[in-house]
Amino acid sequence: MSSYQAGFRVWRGDKDGGGLEDFSVEVNDGEVVLDIIHRLQATQASDLAVRWNCKAGKCGSCSAEINGRPRLMCMTRMSVFTREETITVTPLRAFPVVRDLVTDVTFNYTKAREVPSFVPPPGVAAGDYRMQQVDVDRSQEFRKCIECFLCQDTCHVVRDHEENKTAFAGPRFLMRVAELDMHPLDAASEAGLDRKKTAQDEHGLGYCNITKCCTEVCPEGIKITDNALIPLKERAVDRKYDPLVWLGNKIGRR
Ligand code: FES
Repeated sequence: MSSYQAGFRVWRGDKDGGGLEDFSVEVNDGEVVLDIIHRLQATQASDLAVRWNCKAGKCGSCSAEINGRPRLMCMTRMSVFTREETITVTPLRAFPVVRDLVTDVTFNYTKAREVPSFVPPPGVAAGDYRMQQVDVDRSQEFRKCIECFLCQDTCHVVRDHEENKTAFAGPRFLMRVAELDMHPLDAASEAGLDRKKTAQDEHGLGYCNITKCCTEVCPEGIKITDNALIPLKERAVDRKYDPLVWLGNKIGRR
């Protein structure tokens, strides 16, 4: 096993301010960035705040920015960097800092609560739901989301524009709206809820200009833009501007 000393530059501070601190930390074969942060905590900075849980890329807790790119610390191998490189680890920029690498992600849970959940089809008992495999597969992709909020962090609509947060749900929750809108058994419209309309009017779908930055950082490889946001935009635009769709809606067709 070979080991070496890596240069780490880690942001330390809280909501009142802070800055980057330099450290030299031991790295061993096969380690990931989170291992090094833990070693730093164990040997040089016992009060370093870091959030993590599974160390397997499944809980979504260890999100941070590594050399400026939103990543999971537990899934970023040290072998992707050269030994000479100084690795900079900073908290997610789109959310307020609690302390060091820990941010307050309340924004995301607020937005989650604003998306009405699946509306069961009337007259069909749970367990009797039937749908095509293609529809199951489509929503399964979105269900892989681990809610690490890297997509929310990288999205330029809110990353540098705090003022947009009120009107914009972000890619993770627009994807949730898309998933429900595509669900063949969702009875939201029968209950008077137009998910396409709320996507535009309440969740800020129009702010998204499909730069695909959310897709690029998703650790689950979900094609957020191509498979959720663009189809949702197409469906919403059809609903809003196509006169035939408008007429169809008026006479009761979905
Ligand atoms: Fe769970 Fe990294 S610690 S995703």
